[in-house]
Amino acid sequence: MATLDQKWSALPVPYAMELPDRVRKERYYDGGFYELEAEALWPRVWQMACRLEEIPQPRDFVEYEFLDQSIVLLRTDDMEVRAFQNACRHRGVRVIEGRGTCEHGFVCPFHGWCYGVDGKNSFVPRKKTFAEHNVQPGDIDLVPVRCEVWGGCAWINLDDGAPPLRESLEPAASILDAWKVESLRTEWWYASRLPVNWKLAIEAFVESYHVVQTHPQLVIPTRYGLRDSGPFDSRAFVEADIGYLRTMSEGMAGMVHANDVRIAEGLRDIELPGEADQAMATWNRTLNDAVTRWHRDRGDDMPDLNDLEARGLNLEFFQCFPHSFVLPMYSSATAYRFRPLAPEETLMEIWSLTRYPEGEEPERPAQPEVWECDDPRWPPIPTQDFSNLPRQQRGLHAKGFEYMRLSAGLEGHIANFQRTIDGYLSGLPHERLLPALRAVNVYPFDKPITDLGF
Ligand code: FES
Ligand SMILES: [Fe+2]
Repeated sequence: MATLDQKWSALPVPYAMELPDRVRKERYYDGGFYELEAEALWPRVWQMACRLEEIPQPRDFVEYEFLDQSIVLLRTDDMEVRAFQNACRHRGVRVIEGRGTCEHGFVCPFHGWCYGVDGKNSFVPRKKTFAEHNVQPGDIDLVPVRCEVWGGCAWINLDDGAPPLRESLEPAASILDAWKVESLRTEWWYASRLPVNWKLAIEAFVESYHVVQTHPQLVIPTRYGLRDSGPFDSRAFVEADIGYLRTMSEGMAGMVHANDVRIAEGLRDIELPGEADQAMATWNRTLNDAVTRWHRDRGDDMPDLNDLEARGLNLEFFQCFPHSFVLPMYSSATAYRFRPLAPEETLMEIWSLTRYPEGEEPERPAQPEVWECDDPRWPPIPTQDFSNLPRQQRGLHAKGFEYMRLSAGLEGHIANFQRTIDGYLSGLPHERLLPALRAVNVYPFDKPITDLGF
């Protein structure tokens, strides 16, 4: 990797990525580094703040917290979404907590200042007792926050100078649009408190290098391009593939939706060509077609999976920098979000998303109880991932350990992700950061280290 040594120079940030394939351990626990992220990264990025089904009706609102910030997201009467900083303009009390529905706007619980659904101050009790400069019209309205809607979610950004949401999410946005992710709805939603840095948590999910050791049940020859030696047995192939789908479905509690597994099981007696490549292609096409048809027949807004495949868009794992992920598979998807709670503590949420015929969507999803990462209620696959994480965070503190050494071929996504963070921390302008976002917001698995232009 001689060229890696020379091509990139470190940006002026503490514990910088001096070599793109080495990550200094302090980035995962140093308090100063965490503070710098709080100052220079989080207020400048688009953050998935809520799923739209959390605020399904006009005047529904929900609170989104990150670090020490709290944002109110509110569904307007014309079904747009608006966001405000959650701080009363009088003495700073958070105007809302959690979520709810407001008929007439918000009333601060402390002294009763009132705000309309447009965030404008509508009443100050005993207003005449204030000097005029403290109750100037306009100056006592809730502070608006940039908010845009995409992919079934509302996103916020505290930086008015950041590029629009869509531009910041490409190329993931266009591919996920082809997957029709906007018509997915929450089937369940779990949350976990992980005793690790938020980047460490993310990095456990963006490479497939760990699969063989951590998830041996997922190593299925048909899916990994490996072949058993000997003549091709199409029956055994179909059974192995159905087994894989079932493992993904049960192990992740629905990463492949149970409906799709049943559809695959219904095809198990299919006649396949005797030649291996043709048989696999035929199976794949037939299954895609059956899943597409089943969902369309019952009235779901469902993409044509074979069309996605033909257009090369059937990728299954996307990061939306910095902290959201969407993993579409067949009719459904899983989504993740990782929020820092402290230098060595992260809130990870997992959604299982699927499609419903119009009018049959479930109610507003219940907010998840936060489970510890060793809670026995976690399905097997996240349990396996979580079992490594606290050990890794503790291991990083070892005196003799200085930096992670990444496989430039398999763990390039981690390098690109960390170097993009350095781009923010060193204060690069948005136009220089955009190409880095493009490099991160693509299919992350086994991606090589990319030249981000800085
Ligand atoms: S702090 Fe809100 S009314 Fe006083
Ligand atoms: Fe994993």
